[in-house]
Amino acid sequence: MSHSSNSPTAPASRGQCQSIDLTGKIAQIDGHWQPRVVAEMNDYQFKVVKVEGDFQWHRHADTDETFVVLEGELQIDFRGAPSGDGTIVLRAGQMAVVPKGVEHKPRANVEVKMLLIEPRGVVNTGDGPTDERTVQNDQWI
Ligand code: NI
Repeated sequence: MSHSSNSPTAPASRGQCQSIDLTGKIAQIDGHWQPRVVAEMNDYQFKVVKVEGDFQWHRHADTDETFVVLEGELQIDFRGAPSGDGTIVLRAGQMAVVPKGVEHKPRANVEVKMLLIEPRGVVNTGDGPTDERTVQNDQWI
């Protein structure tokens, strides 16, 4: 694990009543597939992350998950979605909601910077194998 100035715990403000520079926050993250919380709204968290390469197939049994792409081009493969199997492409300024229970696999040919919106406590690898991609929750930046 790398040691950085990231605060592992939530600030008292929980990111509220302040301007949050998403790009600046992402620039502080070491490595890909390492989501960090920047703010909370009720029980929901806003997480920034940069990704590159393929993530693993997984699903979240209890919650939907929202992807908002800030930079780059993200592909999300689906299996068993109401709309059928397939892939969507999200470019900067585009977003998508992955329904709970639907298997998905995000991937990026080149680095993508994005914002995730999901309830507090969601494990990033869902029901997939716990491995080096599985990130400890509630790491703030
Ligand atoms: Ni997911």
